[in-house]
Amino acid sequence: MPGKFYITTAIDYVNNLPHLGTAYEKIAADAIARFKRLDGYDVHFQMGNDEHSVNVMKEAEKLGLPVKQYCDRMRVKFEAIWKDLEISYDDFIQTSEPRHHAAVNAFIELILKKSPNDIFEKEYEGWYCESCEAFQTEKDLVDGKCPTHKTQPKWLKEKNYFFRLSSYKERLLQHYKDNPEFILPEIRKNEVVNFISTELLDISVSRASFPWGIPFPNDPTHVAYVWFDALINYLTAVGFGQKDGAESFKKFWPADLHIVGKDITRFHCVIWPAMLMSAGLPLPKTVFGHGFVFLKGEKMSKSLGNVLTPLDIVPQFGADALRYYLLRESSFGSDGDFTWDNFIKRYNGDLANDIGNLLNRTLGMANKYLGGEIRQPTAPEQPEEKPLREVVAGILSKVRTEMDYTAQGDVDFHKALASIWEVVATADKYIDTSAPWKLSKDGKTPEIGRVLYNVVDTLRNVALLVSPFIPAAAKKIWAQLGIEGQIAFEKQTFENVAWGKTPDTKVTEGTPIFPRIEPPETSKSGDKKMDELLDIADFAKIELRVAEVKQAEKVEGADRLLKLQVEIGGVPRQIVAGIAQHYKPEEIVGKKVVVVANLKPAKIRGVESNGMLLAASAGGGSAPGGSTSESLSIITLDRLSLPSGAKVK
Ligand code: MSP
Repeated sequence: MPGKFYITTAIDYVNNLPHLGTAYEKIAADAIARFKRLDGYDVHFQMGNDEHSVNVMKEAEKLGLPVKQYCDRMRVKFEAIWKDLEISYDDFIQTSEPRHHAAVNAFIELILKKSPNDIFEKEYEGWYCESCEAFQTEKDLVDGKCPTHKTQPKWLKEKNYFFRLSSYKERLLQHYKDNPEFILPEIRKNEVVNFISTELLDISVSRASFPWGIPFPNDPTHVAYVWFDALINYLTAVGFGQKDGAESFKKFWPADLHIVGKDITRFHCVIWPAMLMSAGLPLPKTVFGHGFVFLKGEKMSKSLGNVLTPLDIVPQFGADALRYYLLRESSFGSDGDFTWDNFIKRYNGDLANDIGNLLNRTLGMANKYLGGEIRQPTAPEQPEEKPLREVVAGILSKVRTEMDYTAQGDVDFHKALASIWEVVATADKYIDTSAPWKLSKDGKTPEIGRVLYNVVDTLRNVALLVSPFIPAAAKKIWAQLGIEGQIAFEKQTFENVAWGKTPDTKVTEGTPIFPRIEPPETSKSGDKKMDELLDIADFAKIELRVAEVKQAEKVEGADRLLKLQVEIGGVPRQIVAGIAQHYKPEEIVGKKVVVVANLKPAKIRGVESNGMLLAASAGGGSAPGGSTSESLSIITLDRLSLPSGAKVK
């Protein structure tokens, strides 16, 4: 009988909404949690938000909101996104919650009691990266900047409480040695071992002069350092430091699996176990440091403006499409990449064609030849069904092995999915070789019944097997096979992955579970692939505003240019526009036009221009010949009541 399984993800900073990278982590953890539940484990799947960071406080200040209120609002937004992605977490924690304050206090008290020398006061100064929320040594910096965020850290000087991390070096190395599954995959372990073998410094665990955080016990002039507080969330969530938490804590701690990104493996494999050793608590069994998702080969970053979020994909293509792509495309421990072209290929190939089409053709034939009625077979066994029966019989143990990170050193989602797709391909082949359309010509209805029962039964197995990865599709397959009325999908476990367990059923007409994506139409100007199209986030960077033209005059020596004095929301600006051959100055004065308001200033023929006027011209590019006044038109408003400064979206 499998026991409990406590799995966590990193808790996210809430100064930004989730993007594809943070979502990847939650999707992967969800697939593992769902897999374990189906395998009979008593799973506790924990997620949450990390709130006591400088950047979170700054974001709230920018919006003029009390920081707690800002965090509560972000929680609602995060949870809505996780629900859209079908993330089945059991509990969601905010570090500003009273239960977490209590746990952090209890934890620090425990260290003070068990290892009284581990926390001490010291004057410290050093480089601090606010995005990492960590001090960095000169050695860490590249050209004076944080290697991860490429920003200049701040010089901080404070009297802080410190944690005697340096004294844990040998114990940590010994722990890694004795517990080979503590840090996975192997590459992360090597990084961590190299890191601590060179230099392990004590770390600051409090911040004075910082108002947002959990006050230090016995010294409320300090708050706990955000990482020190954040890591403790894994204990809080299962009852540590809570009035009625002892039973749950005893049951679920230590965690079985912390899923974190490769950038924060060090915090989880060095600081966190040392903190737990100091408090005399058991260590988590495994920390898995997964790879990053890149976008067209580049790191996603707000400052580069190339952040893709689940909201750019899920409303149009569904959560399963994104989940499948991310899990299928790369191995979990390595980096992966998102491109629209690959996404569409995977979707149309694996989802629409392979699994979607197998379901469709099966339902189509069942309805055509059997009136939709699937019954226990009466015709004798056929030689063609042997390969299918064998692949179904072996699939669960194969997928289990591929998902077993302690055995594989990685979570091989991509291999598990490829194995399930072999079942799909075998079923497809089985239909082709047994050819129900030929059997029908010969009036062999019982034989058709046997073929289609076998395929429906395979699809039932496939629905169970894919459900950790693409849960919505799994339910749809189940329902379209007509089984839901008799056996509720929610109650299923992997015990039901077996040949021939489908009850008598009447299948539905069925609708495509993954309707094909038609790639964008090719235009005359060339074959535009999805990746060459603009992401919505790129478009959002362009600030279009209504401007009122107050004055206009020709630019001396430039017969195409007009110098315009415009007003945008009460603020005057000068813009130079190449419209002099189409508009006389007096024609344009008083008009409300649309301008790009956030362009860098430029000098055009020596005249400063602070923006760009939008105009349409015949022929796409610049107006041909620029001769007739009709070949160009500025964009004006047809409702003049709209004030200048209004945003154009
Ligand atoms: N708040 C800390 C974690 C504290 S855990 C006690 C943090 N937050 S984060 O919002 O910056 O990142 C959350 C998780 O998303 C981290 O595990 C991080 O590694 C992961 N990812 C962030 N960008 C990512 C990609 N581009 N790809 C994959 N995972 C990424 O760090």
